[in-house]
Order: sequence, then C-alpha cells, then structure tokens
Amino acid sequence: MAVTKPRTPGDGTPEDAYTAEPFVPDHGGLPTLREAAANCRGCPLHRDATQTVFGQGAASARLLLVGEQPGDQEDRQGKPFVGPAGKLLDRALAEAGLDPAEAYVTNAVKHFKFTRAEPRGRRIHKAPSLREMSACGPWLAAELAIVRPELIVVLGATAGKALLGSSFRVGEVRGTLLEREIHGRAERLLPTVHPSSVLRSDDRESALRGLVADLEVAARALG
Ligand code: URA
Ligand code: SF4
Repeated sequence: MAVTKPRTPGDGTPEDAYTAEPFVPDHGGLPTLREAAANCRGCPLHRDATQTVFGQGAASARLLLVGEQPGDQEDRQGKPFVGPAGKLLDRALAEAGLDPAEAYVTNAVKHFKFTRAEPRGRRIHKAPSLREMSACGPWLAAELAIVRPELIVVLGATAGKALLGSSFRVGEVRGTLLEREIHGRAERLLPTVHPSSVLRSDDRESALRGLVADLEVAARALG
C-alpha cells in the first residue's frame, strides 16, 4: 500500500491538491482497492456522504460501465446504480441484449455530492466539480487497470469528461465506438446518455429507445 501521509482537504488544502492518489494501494485486487477506498479523504466529498460507493462486478467483466457519482439510494446502500437510474439502466441493458449482472459498474466520483432542500432537508444531487472528478480519477484508473474491460460504456457528460477530457460533449459522440489511449492502455469506448437524463426527459419512451440503440452498438462491439 502507498503510505504517504494523507492530507485532509478542507483543512487548508488548496483545491488543486485534491487527490485520491495517496489512498490508492499500488498492488492487490478489487477487494483491496474497495477496502482502501472506504477510507479515502482525497477531496471534501467524503465528509457529508454516508460511505464510499465503490464499483461492483467481477474483475473478469468484459464490459465496464462508468456513471457520474452515487445518488441518494446508492449512498445509503453502498452500491452503484441501485436507485431509479440503475433500474432504468438494467432495463436498457437487457433490452440491448447485455446482461447487467455480467458488467462491472462504477462511477467517475465515488462519494455522493448533494445539497439539502428545505423544508425537510431532502438531499438533492449536485454535479461534481472538475477538481473532484480529477481527484477521484485514480480510483477509476485502478479499477480499469484491474478489470481491463473489452469495452467501456461512458454514461453521460461527467463520465465522459473524466475519461476523455473536459471538451467531451455527449451529444457529439453518443452511439459512436471510440478508440483512445487512457492511462497508457488502448481502450474502446462507447459514450451514451446518462440513464437519469432518460428519467428527466419529456419523452421518456423515445429517450429510452435512444439509450437502448446506443447500447446495442456496445452489444455488437462485444460480439
Ligand atoms: N447515477 C450515477 O451516475 N451513478 C449511480 O451509481 C447512480 C446514479
Ligand atoms: Fe476520495 Fe473520490 Fe470520495 Fe473524493 S469523492 S473522497 S477522491 S473517493
């Protein structure tokens, strides 16, 4: 394990210095990573969230899906994509002929970021900043290095920016198979919309059809 003395963001650490790096073990498998990630303090998001929501799935998975960050349900249960967006994603994957249980599912950011809405203090999702995304990047890099998927499905803008850079625009590349070098490895990526955007859409049925059509490209790429 890399035992650098952790700095505690929020105690005067400048935003530029946010990083999960000192917390990421330099060897071991997914269980080792998951255990270490539970104690990550690489950025301030760990302070208000319930727990780290690490990726889930087998190290042997051929398909790896990347979302944005855990939502309310995920934060409570400690697992990615178990709330409404996850249910919709599972349905879309199945319709595209992909088995959700065989995929490795994770997020660009591993802690839930939210604000409280009055009167009852309901927790409202807040988009992570670029700094928080890059701080959390070492966890995603470590997951990719272990799983070494045949294909990465990029769900929405945050995952796209985390993997392909801040100029990523989902509308420009959705449904297109991309080949890029990421962390020194040639990866195949298939960007599509985030399942939450389907849930928010005025025309949910056609938004779902679009997501399924993109995922069918992924299914064909996997053969
Ligand atoms: N949205 C995401 O991006 N990830 C989750 O795990 C749940 C909802
Ligand atoms: Fe660490 Fe990522 Fe959580 Fe920030 S969001 S504390 S970098 S696991």
